[in-house]
Amino acid sequence: MAIETDPAPTPQPQPQPAPENIVLGTKTRLPEFSLAGKVICVSGAARGLGLTQAEALLEAGAIVYALDRLEEPDPHFHTIQARAKTELSTTLYYRRIDVRDTALLNAVVEDIANTHGRLDGLIAAAGVQQETPALEYTADDVNRLLGINVTGVFMTAQAVARQMVRFGRGGSIVLIASMSGTIANRGLPCPAYNASKAAVLQLTRNLAMEWGPYNIRVNSLSPGYILTSMVTDLFEEYPERASEWPRQNMLGRLSRPEEYRGAAVFLLSEASGFMTGGDLRVDGGHAAW
Ligand SMILES: NC(=O)c1ccc[n+]([C@@H]2O[C@H](COP(=O)([O-])OP(=O)(O)OC[C@H]3O[C@@H](n4cnc5c(N)ncnc54)[C@H](O)[C@@H]3O)[C@@H](O)[C@H]2O)c1
Repeated sequence: MAIETDPAPTPQPQPQPAPENIVLGTKTRLPEFSLAGKVICVSGAARGLGLTQAEALLEAGAIVYALDRLEEPDPHFHTIQARAKTELSTTLYYRRIDVRDTALLNAVVEDIANTHGRLDGLIAAAGVQQETPALEYTADDVNRLLGINVTGVFMTAQAVARQMVRFGRGGSIVLIASMSGTIANRGLPCPAYNASKAAVLQLTRNLAMEWGPYNIRVNSLSPGYILTSMVTDLFEEYPERASEWPRQNMLGRLSRPEEYRGAAVFLLSEASGFMTGGDLRVDGGHAAW
């Protein structure tokens, strides 16, 4: 006669210690912020704001393609690329491209979309600044700046939107404008730059209107002064600005690129699902007084 033995005790769930790093965008925590599996292009991501925002998108789970004209991205790019692979289980790619080369732009973006069978987002951060008094600006210089900051941004958005329409899954596009699209920066003669950023604000509204029926959302992000080389290079030439500019906003300081990480993930994810044609101004209150 078989002797019955007590069945092995069922393992009971053990209380788990709270995770040291709470992961944003998981299925159980703020899932609307998750970018898991999404494929996103970031122009101007060889350095500066674009690179910092690219890292945030990677942390939220996206596969990211940095598009930039630099032959070699900033050394920090490679650190983030390695981190994406080893810590974040995703990938950061680099494609060298000048956003004025529309044919190459379309070919590269189409190839990215074909590789993954989708394209979900764009941050258009590639941009240049030129400080020249309005009485001295040449037509060539104005056209060069607008060619990158307006035409380049427009054509990048168009290349990405074409792929989004082709795959029929919608998407989210963020154009990096600036508080300088709304105000004249006191003591900073850069009329063409400010006009270009005002154009980006208006372009956002028109693209949002035309592409809404495809479920493509288009918003702009308007930063205040950020401590990237675009600004720190000016401080070397005009050291007094380093103390003057912080006094021009309500928080009395300049911003760091990291302070735009949350805005990038918000705007690219479903967390902002009902937002389109809008501008998110993050400027320490500079343009509000
Ligand atoms: N730094 C600021 O204070 C500030 C404030 C508001 C808005 N912005 C905007 O933020 C964006 C990023 O600026 P940043 O501060 O990181 O400057 P940055 O100069 O560090 O980065 C700009 C990047 O764009 C790339 N780029 C420029 N022209 C290009 C082209 N034709 N094709 C492809 N890539 C090109 C550059 O190679 C560079 O990697 C810009 O659109 C800028 O106008 C900056």
